[in-house]
Amino acid sequence: MTVTLDELPIRDDLRGQTPYGAPQAPLPVALNVNENTHPVPTEVADDIADAIAQALRGVNRYPDREFLSLREGFAQYLGHGLEPAQIWAGNGSNEVLQHLLQAFAGPGRTVFGFEPTYSMYRLLTRGVGSQWIGGTRGHDYTVSAQDAADQVARARPDVVFLCAPNNPTGTPLPLDVVEAVYDATDGIVIVDEAYEEFAPRDAPSAVTLLGGRPRLAVSRTMSKAFAFAGARVGYLAADPALIDALRLVRLPYHLSALTQAAAVAALRHADTMLKMVDEIVAQRDRMSATLEALGYQVHESWTNFVLFGGVADPAATWQALYDRGVLIRDIGIPGHLRVTAGTEDETTAFLEALADVGSR
Ligand SMILES: Cc1ncc(COP(=O)(O)O)c(C=O)c1O
Repeated sequence: MTVTLDELPIRDDLRGQTPYGAPQAPLPVALNVNENTHPVPTEVADDIADAIAQALRGVNRYPDREFLSLREGFAQYLGHGLEPAQIWAGNGSNEVLQHLLQAFAGPGRTVFGFEPTYSMYRLLTRGVGSQWIGGTRGHDYTVSAQDAADQVARARPDVVFLCAPNNPTGTPLPLDVVEAVYDATDGIVIVDEAYEEFAPRDAPSAVTLLGGRPRLAVSRTMSKAFAFAGARVGYLAADPALIDALRLVRLPYHLSALTQAAAVAALRHADTMLKMVDEIVAQRDRMSATLEALGYQVHESWTNFVLFGGVADPAATWQALYDRGVLIRDIGIPGHLRVTAGTEDETTAFLEALADVGSR
């Protein structure tokens, strides 16, 4: 390297900042970034491979810029009478969220979220030159409709993020909070349902609130429940006019023909792909129960991960687990660590390693 980053004419607001950086280490048990640790079932992988092979034969041409087949697939998967015109997709829900901020935030505007929450909201906000406003949560990271509405009304943000259920805490978010926040702002309200499939089956999605709320967007991802993190496919549902706004900021042909083919094929197997969800939820609940029995303070989780407190020295425990081949996440909440539910064997490996490490 001939110069340092600081010597380059970088934007002033990016100077001294650090990038997203969850450690990627080749450890035998990786439970740090809330992936689905179950691989795609072989029969589904074969079908996806065939679809990609076919798409490859036409890869000399640009892909369908409007990814219509994929939007039809997501509309059908989400149900509730949604039309393809109400669907958008991107390379991971991170890109979908970025499109929303590019269209509705930007320089001189503000973006609000209840902290602690998904760390990328703040980074995406910075990336579009907006200012982040951190709201607060109550006891055990919950937020009530009244408190949420009051905070949002006071902050008057251009965009509000509601992470439902919340990362990194796992906390459910009742729909009355979404309704109250929507009524308390003239801005865009994004409900990020990345972990929706791990919530109880009878818990309603914010997708049911879309009718008559043109400033509401509900984002989802194939990275978690669909075990598709490496393929990078996220999507959202909203009013067709809001979708039109996203066309103004996306790069042309942003979803490759190979990505579209893979995602359409995977969606055809939604039932098989989602079978693993029940198994993951069972491992999550076993993890929570065992952590509690070990004396840790376990937070309620509607996701595929568990946040636990009562850790005397999170950095030391994280390192001791690392040394035993188990990678989890220190998300910077004092006294806490976060761990993703793994396969039965991975979950056992984590719980045994933690019991071995003891309280430190
Ligand atoms: C709350 C939340 N939203 C969005 C994402 C991004 O997922 P992806 O870009 O893989 O779709 C994550 C990933 O961990 C997440 O936790």
